[in-house]
Amino acid sequence: MSELDADIDDVVVSAEQIQAKTAELAKQIDADYGDREPLLVGVLKGAVMFMSDLARVLERPSTMEFMAVSSYGSATTSSGVVRILKDLDRDIAGQHVLIVEDIIDSGLTLSWLLKNLAARQPASIEVVALLRKPEAVKVHVPVKYVGFEIPNEFVVGYGLDYAERYRDLPYIGRLKPEVYTS
Ligand code: PRP
Repeated sequence: MSELDADIDDVVVSAEQIQAKTAELAKQIDADYGDREPLLVGVLKGAVMFMSDLARVLERPSTMEFMAVSSYGSATTSSGVVRILKDLDRDIAGQHVLIVEDIIDSGLTLSWLLKNLAARQPASIEVVALLRKPEAVKVHVPVKYVGFEIPNEFVVGYGLDYAERYRDLPYIGRLKPEVYTS
């Protein structure tokens, strides 16, 4: 048991479930892309774990870029404010962009990101998200690949943080309320 496990009430998505779902999503992506090489655009920092696991199970070669945007601060709900902390390192014109997200919560980050990246003239643009919360439905962002629909509760692990911690947990779990209320 890691020190962090003690702060978790229960497991929402296990490491095994994440692994199986990632393989399933990769299979779909491989089939859909055919001979097109996806350019994975990971949204830091949360997507790091999912992006690295996904890239390794994709049979198709892919390339990687990262972008960092801020929407949350360290609070547990979305503020709706999006700003670029780190932009892509290269031009994506003509590329088959696949945005890789750990979670879609309010959908605001993704909605903004899709507009921003689409303006750079990629050949195509799609989204793969490991987790999606019910609120995201309201924003109507087209997400081609979704791993798990999860309830509207605050979760951490596998990239998701609370005050920058818990990203290194291998599963997604519900944090004990006393951890963020104390
Ligand atoms: C999280 C997550 C998404 C975004 C989703 O990132 O990784 O990018 O929030 O929220 P939304 O759908 O309500 O816009 P966060 O801003 O917490 O940064 P982090 O990945 O560095 O923790």
